[in-house]
Amino acid sequence: MIEQIQALQQEAEDALAGAKAIQDVEALRVRFLGKKGALTGLLRGLGSLSVEERPQVGQAANEVKQAIEARIADAFDRLKKQAQQEQRSKRSVDVSLPGSPPLVGSLHPLTLVRQEILDIFGRMGFRVEVGPEVETEFFNFEALGIPKDHPARDMQDTFYVGEQMVLRTHTSPVQIRAVLERRKPPVRIVAPGAVYRRDSDVSHSPMFHQVEGLMIEEGVHFGHLKGILDTFAREMFGEKNTTRFRPSYFPFTEPSAEVDVSCFLCDAKGCRVCKDTGWIEILGCGMVDPVVFEEVANYDERTEYDPTSVTGFAFGMGIERIAMLKYRIPDIRLFFDNDINFLKQFGS
Ligand code: PHE
Repeated sequence: MIEQIQALQQEAEDALAGAKAIQDVEALRVRFLGKKGALTGLLRGLGSLSVEERPQVGQAANEVKQAIEARIADAFDRLKKQAQQEQRSKRSVDVSLPGSPPLVGSLHPLTLVRQEILDIFGRMGFRVEVGPEVETEFFNFEALGIPKDHPARDMQDTFYVGEQMVLRTHTSPVQIRAVLERRKPPVRIVAPGAVYRRDSDVSHSPMFHQVEGLMIEEGVHFGHLKGILDTFAREMFGEKNTTRFRPSYFPFTEPSAEVDVSCFLCDAKGCRVCKDTGWIEILGCGMVDPVVFEEVANYDERTEYDPTSVTGFAFGMGIERIAMLKYRIPDIRLFFDNDINFLKQFGS
């Protein structure tokens, strides 16, 4: 009987060594140690043994039982560890896979162009100034020599937002604010910002952006204006680009001009964008009209801009227009649709 018991141990050990899954081990536990298991079966025969044999066989049976229990515990342990290992390797990172780069945003094309414009003028000593988008009629119009009956004040063009208040139709009111704030020359500012007009098509948006420039200093004349704007055009569009000043009219500048830059898209040979003229209009400008200094002096007597001796120049340009030319964007509305596929083309 002792031999039978020991053979059982061998059998159990062999079976456990071959067990591949936790369920197998559980089945073996039932098979060898369970209530109806092999060892229990053998022990049932204990009663038929002689009194001398019984303790020996009993002891042997106990030893085998403990040995099998220990093996079963080992097998459970081994398989549990194996399962954990497999889980871990399934979850673990494959360092040889290519990484997925984090999505980074890019600056809006209008931001890029505005920054470039401000940088160029910044290098020429122009400091940035800002003004409110909701503006008084006085600053937006009267102070700039635009009387009540002027076509620019027509309801067609201007958004009125209350009693004598408008959404500014241009950045020129910042000229007035800068002049008033400083009270006397010198003034050398650039003023970027949103402006509003009742207009909408491929090249007009009811909200768009301008950069205004203003320089007031003793002895400033039209030659300075030409030099500064010519430098700007060459830095913005390319060293070999020239400018052309065409006489024009603005109520707040005299003389006034519109400035064209030689077409940088076709090297002035003639193309669709410059309509075969070789020139592209980029801004309006002129010498500050004395009427502006008069308006300012009337508004605040503490200011010291003598209309008979003070001179300065001003200019204003549309940021969208310059961005459309620079990046060849065919429709102004693309700037405001916020289509990621459009926006991500413009670098950081
Ligand atoms: N404010 C003018 C416009 O919006 C542009 C301009 C600014 C012209 C300064 C002359 C001087 O059209």
